[in-house]
Amino acid sequence: MSEPWRILQCVIKKSDVGSKTWERVKKITQESSVIIYGEMIANPRAPGGKEVKVREVLIQHIAVSPYPLGKKEQPPEVLMRWRHLAIRSPRFTKIWIVREYLLKLAREYFQRNEWHEVSPPILVSTACEGGATLFEVKYFDDSKAYLSQSAQLYLEVMIFSLGKVWSLTPSFRAEKSRTRRHLAEYWHLEAEAAWYRFEDNLRVQEELIEYIIRGLLENDLTRSLILEFRGDIEPLENVKAPFERITYDEAIEILQSKNFDIKWGDDIGADEEKVLSEEIEQFFFLTHFPAHLKAFYVKLDSNRPEVSLSADLLAPEGYGEIIGGSEREDDVNVLIDRIREEGFDPKDYQWYLDLRRYGSVPHSGFGLGIERLLWWILKLSHIRDTLPFPRLARVKKFI
Ligand code: 4AD
Ligand code: MG
Repeated sequence: MSEPWRILQCVIKKSDVGSKTWERVKKITQESSVIIYGEMIANPRAPGGKEVKVREVLIQHIAVSPYPLGKKEQPPEVLMRWRHLAIRSPRFTKIWIVREYLLKLAREYFQRNEWHEVSPPILVSTACEGGATLFEVKYFDDSKAYLSQSAQLYLEVMIFSLGKVWSLTPSFRAEKSRTRRHLAEYWHLEAEAAWYRFEDNLRVQEELIEYIIRGLLENDLTRSLILEFRGDIEPLENVKAPFERITYDEAIEILQSKNFDIKWGDDIGADEEKVLSEEIEQFFFLTHFPAHLKAFYVKLDSNRPEVSLSADLLAPEGYGEIIGGSEREDDVNVLIDRIREEGFDPKDYQWYLDLRRYGSVPHSGFGLGIERLLWWILKLSHIRDTLPFPRLARVKKFI
């Protein structure tokens, strides 16, 4: 893989280039582009141990000076305002390269295991993950649509064509929460498989995460970049399936023992996840959430109908949820009740309900937030830097 952040030092002496070139060279400002002819020589003090002794310079473009971001470190607000220029830095180049390789590995995992990649829509007619985080858009003159929160419902359609399907799409969440882990637009890797039960679903997630992390460590370039970012590669080396599991009930007990004001039925939010993930120190599944904490489509546990066959996968070091998944409810009447409980109209979900009316199979699936995973891999402080153009609740003007 190329290393586009490499710096090459070029040294110009008036005596080597003559006074005409020398006068032109004086006009070169930061970020200008030039073509240089010269001789590459060794210099142990230069970046990379080499430098160019310049003979000729052809100016291609002179940048306006001063450069808005200068050389000193800038606060995050300034970097966001100048995002289109801020990403011209080695730090961002390195993040994009790890991201690109991560996506390559994810695709490779699915291809090797004979999953089919499909292309679900982004403009959708129904909510998948609750009404509160839906972005509404005008659809021509007299209609409305939403930006997809998840491809899941469409993947559930596609399993009847292809069996095991996956997709990588943007998902949108109008999350008001201004946290370090929420984006309004993120890349969602989702998988859904016919005949896969709860356990099979967890196994695929473990294998996928292990495959990605191992691949990143086996590649010299991504390994060295990850080490440079996080300073410690051990937490990645420890990623080995099978992952630990705790149930929601156990999580509540752990949290209560740590003096959290929490009772059975309460949601497990970012603060609670942080404590649990610091306690367990590895990737782990948090399983069997009360049904009312999850979306309408989760299958209820037949042994204990107050809980669901759902699981989140949490990353270590306090990073928390990176995957949400479950076995899907296949009883049409239970689904209709659950859709109503969420405040939606079952009429809007007729096509989805038809998947249970006109022949169904047990099936399960999950969704991985690409940025959440990359955020942990590089141990970044804020999720925004995993994307070149992050969409955040608090930044309403963007390029
Ligand atoms: O847990 P979520 O909401 O689950 C679903 O959307 C399911 N329909 C997925 C499925 O089963 N096909 O979202 C899945 C993952 C989360 O675990 C998280 O990693 C990521 O998507 N995610 C976000 N990432 C960044 N910013 C946000 N606002 C996110 N919301 C969810
Ligand atoms: Mg979730």
